[in-house]
Amino acid sequence: MKIIIFIFVIASLSFFLPNPEISQDFSATSKVESALPKDTADIPSSYDIDSAESRSLVINKDRPISLAYTPADLTYPDIPLRTTGTEMQVRNETAKWLEVMFDDASRAGHPLILSSGFRSSSVQAGLFSSFSSSNGLAEAEKLVARAGTSEHQTGWAADVYTPGSCIIEACFGQTEAGKWVAKNSADYGYIVRYLKGKEDITGYSYEPWHLRYVGHQLAQHLVRQNLTLEEFFEL
Ligand code: DAL
Ligand code: ZN
Repeated sequence: MKIIIFIFVIASLSFFLPNPEISQDFSATSKVESALPKDTADIPSSYDIDSAESRSLVINKDRPISLAYTPADLTYPDIPLRTTGTEMQVRNETAKWLEVMFDDASRAGHPLILSSGFRSSSVQAGLFSSFSSSNGLAEAEKLVARAGTSEHQTGWAADVYTPGSCIIEACFGQTEAGKWVAKNSADYGYIVRYLKGKEDITGYSYEPWHLRYVGHQLAQHLVRQNLTLEEFFEL
């Protein structure tokens, strides 16, 4: 009988443990929960950084994914799109939060357009090759990921711009829309992935237009601490 009560107590406790991979809005209503840490945002081991299905996946020049990988739940977000075609797709969860963010940005006077979402590894390879031919290999290495190492292949990334100038250029960061994105995107689960001053850590130039969905809890923690994924996970 004692063993059954013990198992019941453990099972009940585990129900109240906050899990950043599952719940964004764990509301504190029970006495058990109030005795536990408020969240696990600052605990690297509570995130899955290895699976392409995980919103906290870390993919970079040193951490490629399979060239054959394609997310299973690609969808066209209901937002202004630069063009038609498969590059306008993102994952369901990415799409949902892009829609909310684009609505709020527009209401704040900063209409946004999706420039690129999902890119297959072959599209990414073509992009690297054509950019390299036009701008040289050194520039390509700083601005375009090689096939198998782009966040665009995961469906978790979105390049955004606002009509006018500075379209997919570093000066987007100085525009009112770019400032709005940098300040508010974490409220929708996004980070500006390639930050100014962190080029040696991320391996890429400052890209204020490249947003990466990582989920609200992690995004807000990273932005508050001004950390890249590589720094937070000590990679
Ligand atoms: N521009 C980023 C690094 C990409 O090509 O994925
Ligand atoms: Zn991008």
